Amino acid sequence: MSTVRGKVAVVTGAGSGIGRQLALELARRGARLALSDVDELGLGQTADRARALGAEVHTARLDVSDRAAVEAYATAVAEHFGVVHQVYNNAGVAGGGAVLDTDWAEYDRVLSINLFGVLHGTKAFLPHLIASGDGHVVNVSSLNGIMGQGSMTAYCTSKFGVRGLTESLRAELLAAGHPVQVSVVHPGGVRTNIATAAWEHAKAQGQEVTAAEEARHRRYNEKLLRMPPEQAARIVVDGVEAGRPRILVGNDAKVVDLLVRLAPRLYPVLVARAERRFAGGA
Ligand SMILES: NC(=O)c1ccc[n+]([C@@H]2O[C@H](COP(=O)([O-])OP(=O)(O)OC[C@H]3O[C@@H](n4cnc5c(N)ncnc54)[C@H](O)[C@@H]3O)[C@@H](O)[C@H]2O)c1
Repeated sequence: MSTVRGKVAVVTGAGSGIGRQLALELARRGARLALSDVDELGLGQTADRARALGAEVHTARLDVSDRAAVEAYATAVAEHFGVVHQVYNNAGVAGGGAVLDTDWAEYDRVLSINLFGVLHGTKAFLPHLIASGDGHVVNVSSLNGIMGQGSMTAYCTSKFGVRGLTESLRAELLAAGHPVQVSVVHPGGVRTNIATAAWEHAKAQGQEVTAAEEARHRRYNEKLLRMPPEQAARIVVDGVEAGRPRILVGNDAKVVDLLVRLAPRLYPVLVARAERRFAGGA
């Protein structure tokens, strides 16, 4: 029997991609759901689909970078359900390129959502997860929380940060003996809207886009973001049910994990070569 059946699970960024499919997978396995996103349209569609699967669903518009809003939200969810067992800190954005080219506003945006958003959700829900007697924190990092890339410095910084936070939290909770498990998730490429959303954001900020950059964006989506989000969500929830502290999603994440361990000094050279080839259209 599923260990999530009957549990109250919180999923941020549930209006699209991995977050939507996490919500639907948890609904199929019998969880009660607190779903949130800044995108209310996408959130409503996810909630309708989860309800059609028989789940009890609470929805709220929530910007995870807004500390006070996340704190108020955690209280509201705990009051609504009476208990909270699992939080999936999933909301995230892509963005930020090379250090020399990326402005502070972009670092602030990416870190406030991807890193502080995860910290806000973790800290605000932790007392409720402890009180449940059977809690689980699930923080979504990335393959880029294992491997750095020169073209994604803000994103990699945020995702390495999520990993550091989550592994530290695990040690903290083990030492304290609290009844809360902790998992960090490292997805490889998953076919979602993340790259297109970042692309649209950059254009909306007035960034000029050349035909070569358009082509690179298309290649990135087609070649690297391949796993269906439904499959990614199944792997994550299976990992949570198995109590895995580290959940690698996809062969690309597994290969990168191995490469970085086996060749910690060489891997940046290989990454730089691959990025040059990719930018050149190979
Ligand atoms: N798609 C991939 O290849 C991939 C790989 C590794 C890690 N991830 C991570 O998976 C997570 C989900 O991304 P996805 O690929 O499903 O992308 P997505 O763009 O399809 O979904 C992300 C969701 O987060 C929401 N969101 C954005 N900013 C928010 C904010 N401030 N507050 C609340 N919600 C916000 C968006 O509205 C969207 O619904 C992210 O943390 C991402 O970094 C994705």
